[in-house]
Amino acid sequence: MTTLLIDTDPGVDDALAILMAHAHARVAGLCIAAGNVGLAHTVGNALKLVETIGVDTPVFAGCPSALVLPAPGAGFVHGEDGFGDTAYLPATRRAADEHAAAAIVRLARARPGELTLVALAPLTNLALALRLDPDLPSRIARLVVMGGAVTGRGNIHLAPVEFNIGFDPEAAHVVFSEWPQFDLVDWEACLRHAMTFEAFERMLDAGDARARFYAAISRKARAFNRSRGRGMIAADALAMAVALDPSIVVQAERHHVAIELASGLGRGATVVDWHDRLGGRPNANIVLAVDQGRFEALVATALGAAGRG
Ligand code: BDR
Ligand code: CA
Repeated sequence: MTTLLIDTDPGVDDALAILMAHAHARVAGLCIAAGNVGLAHTVGNALKLVETIGVDTPVFAGCPSALVLPAPGAGFVHGEDGFGDTAYLPATRRAADEHAAAAIVRLARARPGELTLVALAPLTNLALALRLDPDLPSRIARLVVMGGAVTGRGNIHLAPVEFNIGFDPEAAHVVFSEWPQFDLVDWEACLRHAMTFEAFERMLDAGDARARFYAAISRKARAFNRSRGRGMIAADALAMAVALDPSIVVQAERHHVAIELASGLGRGATVVDWHDRLGGRPNANIVLAVDQGRFEALVATALGAAGRG
């Protein structure tokens, strides 16, 4: 069974990914970054989630901001508290007494070659971990990153930019230029693999307590998606599916991807050398298509809805 280490900023789609992880794999820890909302909320949400699932997965608080420049969050999608403003009772458990970046380094050293690292947030903690241990990639079995917009159809106010990369472009630059090879699940793949609302609502209706919790925290995000008329996009869930089962990928291309750091409309863009002309290392395996049925089956099981919809 795969063992995952998850860097995340819960966040509604992060929560679905974390539910999937616990249903289908072992989870060594949740490393928390600021992103969708501030760190106090993302840590609190992660703790609430592991308490709700009923597991002892440690939660490590990480960086409270991007490395260089402040960035706006995405409370307008996820709710101002990141979990749909449901005013749930806070978790009783606490975060571990170790920084997320230090935990990534320690766990990778303790279990060389065993961990699949899944990055579902701005890459701030991961960049810091790379600075603490430049040999980190050699100790990690596989890295899956949710981020980027490979042909420029992004999801923040800077048109060609995706949120996780746009929130902390310098951190993304460190990871993209120093990690030898990783799987990249970009925003545009997530658009192509949106679930229909009918299918997703059926899962929520048929599922167990996890589905009821998820239905509550995702109400605002689902309404936001409906208002955009584009199906139920669960970006981090798609990246988690690729981490859990690489065989669901039916189309991918390996190319060099760099991060644009200059100020202006392109800051945070993922620049892909589609024709391999620039001589850069093909660092990213860009996931273009997955088996939609198998992706949704992984989601349904995590909500307790498999075979019940
Ligand atoms: C990514 O940004 C966040 O809002 C989501 O949680 C996901 O990780 C999608 O662009
Ligand atoms: Ca996220």
